[in-house]
Amino acid sequence: MENKADFQYPHTFVLLGASGDLAKKKIYPTIWYLYRDNVLPQNTKFIGYARTKQTLEEVKEKSKKYMKVRPGEESKFDQFWEANDYLAGSYDRRIDYELLNQHISKYEKGLRANRIFYLAVPPTVFEDVTVNIKNACIAIKGYTRVIIEKPFGRDDVTSEKLSKPI
Ligand SMILES: NC(=O)c1ccc[n+]([C@@H]2O[C@H](COP(=O)([O-])OP(=O)(O)OC[C@H]3O[C@@H](n4cnc5c(N)ncnc54)[C@H](OP(=O)(O)O)[C@@H]3O)[C@@H](O)[C@H]2O)c1
Repeated sequence: MENKADFQYPHTFVLLGASGDLAKKKIYPTIWYLYRDNVLPQNTKFIGYARTKQTLEEVKEKSKKYMKVRPGEESKFDQFWEANDYLAGSYDRRIDYELLNQHISKYEKGLRANRIFYLAVPPTVFEDVTVNIKNACIAIKGYTRVIIEKPFGRDDVTSEKLSKPI
């Protein structure tokens, strides 16, 4: 569980597979509701990452229809998108994760900063993604968490492999 003291530090939420169906229908709406309801640390940045070359505006256009914005919430909704960014890159090349790492680091002022990586990608790329996160994107000033969307592997063997430390 998040330590309450961590709430004052920068957090970066990286959504891998940000071009996909799950991202637009479930994850962008969910992070918007958490942001809207002020239950996230104030200084949270959101970075969408996927191979598709697109602008943040295009990501927003695709997700918008799944995100409820009630009357009076329009400016908060704009603020939410101002806290967002999108970066295109591969899942299997370390260099792209080094660029992602540089991108995240720009937001991490101060002594502590935490990183959360959400894998909204097919299970076939879980290994490439987690190995590259470990090699190039581990937080040096705070914790690193990886969230894996179900299905967790394809069977008992692959699911056990995912549970083992790399
Ligand atoms: N959609 C849902 O409602 C839902 C519900 C429960 C669980 N899930 C699970 O969540 C994960 C993501 O689901 P999704 O529906 O969002 O999937 P998706 O749209 O097929 O894939 C998400 C993104 O991953 C990249 N991708 C797709 N196929 C790939 C491949 N063969 N190799 C490398 N990258 C690939 C694509 O992005 P780029 O090409 O831009 O990199 C795509 O936009 C899956 O494991 C799925 O089983 C989805």
